[in-house]
Amino acid sequence: RWAYVNGRFVRHGDAAVHIEDRGYQLADGVYEVWAVFGGKLADADGHFERLERSLSELRIVQPMGRKALELVLREAIRRNRVRDGLVYLQVTRGVARRDHAFPDPQPVPAVVITAKSVDRKASEAKAAKGVGVITLPENRWGRCDIKTVGLLPNALAKQAAKERGCAEAWFVDPEGLVTEGASSNAWIVDAEGVLRTRDTSANILRGVTRKSVITLLGEQNIRFEERAFTPDEAKGAREAFITGAGSLVLPVVSVDGEKIGSGTPGPVATRLRALYIEAAS
Ligand code: PDD
Repeated sequence: RWAYVNGRFVRHGDAAVHIEDRGYQLADGVYEVWAVFGGKLADADGHFERLERSLSELRIVQPMGRKALELVLREAIRRNRVRDGLVYLQVTRGVARRDHAFPDPQPVPAVVITAKSVDRKASEAKAAKGVGVITLPENRWGRCDIKTVGLLPNALAKQAAKERGCAEAWFVDPEGLVTEGASSNAWIVDAEGVLRTRDTSANILRGVTRKSVITLLGEQNIRFEERAFTPDEAKGAREAFITGAGSLVLPVVSVDGEKIGSGTPGPVATRLRALYIEAAS
């Protein structure tokens, strides 16, 4: 396997960054994940746009133009012989003697790219069974719209989910509404048959997959609202699912151990998964 580190491809096992990289010390950096279908980046532009926004919100210099970055991502896919999989890109503010405030002058941002294959057969088998989610109190910071590498609450939430045999954790805000998952956006088909996901004025990530799925909905005859829901509404829903570059569209069959519907993937989620994969391939 090959990784891209600060301007060149190196063997994955030898790839390393400096101990005073601000990503390592302060989580001062951002990332993106693209799904890869047939060797091609899915939703390429949506992820580039969000990357540029995350960087500018943190006042990290854009390490290179979009065209150049796309070339490197494609080279990472090629070198690692990825047909179906994931590409990870991380940009941190760079290396400087430890100090919380920004270094002056700004260091060169550090760029790391990895690519790995995913066993789509296994993912389809998982999707056909559906996954469970748990709910946890929202404990992240107030800028979840920025895709930063500061993921400790997300990692702890995922671990709690795993320990209960679940694949995802949904955060619930003080108003009792689901914000999003630890690494995905949360959706239901409510008791009235309306597809719902939280609006992006809330403190959540503007999911690129979420946006593509909304575009698909416009072409289908599915009632949809950007409106938050409670864990109880999810438990009483007809269907639930999550979206993200890693999960694509993944049916949810239980929330906090309570079955959704019959406890099997619903028709809407199943159809949207197929449509999304078809559109992205
Ligand atoms: N996670 N919400 C959170 C908190 C996320 O971390 C992600 C993605 C999403 C879905 O966004 P998108 O559809 O743009 O992938 C929502 C990536 C896949 C990850 O952390 O691995």
